[in-house]
Amino acid sequence: MVTRVKQIYSFVVILALIGSAKAADRVELLYAPCASCHGAVAQGKVELLAPRLAGQNTAYLAEQLKNFKSGARGAHPKDIHGQVMAANARYLNDGEINRLAEYLNRLEGGQVASGFTGDIKRGHKLYADHCLVCHGERAEGYTTLNAPKLRILGGWYIKRQLNAYRKGWRGDGARGSARAKGMRAIAMQLSNEAELDAVVAYVLSLEGVE
Ligand code: HEC
Ligand code: HEC
Repeated sequence: MVTRVKQIYSFVVILALIGSAKAADRVELLYAPCASCHGAVAQGKVELLAPRLAGQNTAYLAEQLKNFKSGARGAHPKDIHGQVMAANARYLNDGEINRLAEYLNRLEGGQVASGFTGDIKRGHKLYADHCLVCHGERAEGYTTLNAPKLRILGGWYIKRQLNAYRKGWRGDGARGSARAKGMRAIAMQLSNEAELDAVVAYVLSLEGVE
C-alpha cells in the first residue's frame, strides 16, 4: 500500500514537472518571434527602433500589447514602426499577453546605453515640474498609474516617444487610450527640441534603477 501511494505520488510530481517545463517552453516560444527585433534578452535594438522590454513593469507591458492589438496604438498612418509592432500583437490572446508581460518583466536586459547630449541641469527642473509626479524620483515608474519606467529605456527611444505623443501618433483623439491622451498633453508642455533633449539627458543621468 505504502509503495502504491509512493508510486502515485512520484507520478504526480513527474506530471507537475512536465507541466512547468511546458509552461516555461511556451512563453519562450511565444517570445521567439519578438527576439528578432527586441533582442534575445529583450535588451532592445536601436537599429530597428525596437525598445528594451526587459525589466519594464508587467501591467504597462500588458496594456501596451493590448493597445497595439486594439488599434489604440500603432494605427496612425504615419507611425510606421508602431504599425509594424501592431502587426505582431494582433494574434496574441489575453492569456499570452499576460504571460509575455510577466516573462519580460523578469528579464534583466543589461546595461542601458548612455551618451545622450542635453542640458542635465535644465532637464532636472523640467523633470521635477512635469514628470516626477507620475514617473517617480528616479524614473522608476509608478505602477498605480501604469506610468512606465523610463530610466531603463534608451535616450533615442524616450525622445522618439515624446515626439510620437507630440505629433499625435500616440494619444490622438480618434484612437488613443485615456492614459496616452494624458501623456500627449504633458509632452506638449515641453516647448522645443532643447527641452526634450534636456529631460532625456536628465533621465539617463539617474542612477541605480535597472
Ligand atoms: C518587426 C520588429 C518587431 C517585432 C517582431 C516585435 N516588435 Fe515590439 N516593437 C517594435 C517596435 C519598432 C516598437 C516601438 C513602436 C513605437 O515606436 O511605438 C515596439 C514596441 C513594443 C512594445 C511597447 C514598449 C513600450 O515601452 O511602450 C512592447 C510591449 C512590445 N513591442 C512587445 C513585443 C512583443 C511581446 C513581441 C512579440 C510578440 C514584439 N514586440 C515583436 C518592433 C517589433
Ligand atoms: C500624469 C502622469 C504623467 C506625467 C506627469 C508624465 N507621464 Fe509619461 N506616461 C504616463 C503614462 C500613464 C504613460 C503611458 C501612456 C500610454 O499608455 O501611452 C506614460 C508614458 C510615457 C512614455 C512612453 C514610454 C514607453 O515605454 O513607450 C515616455 C517616454 C514618457 N511617459 C515620458 C514622460 C516625460 C519625459 C514626462 C515629463 C515631461 C512625463 N512622461 C510626464 C504618465 C505621466
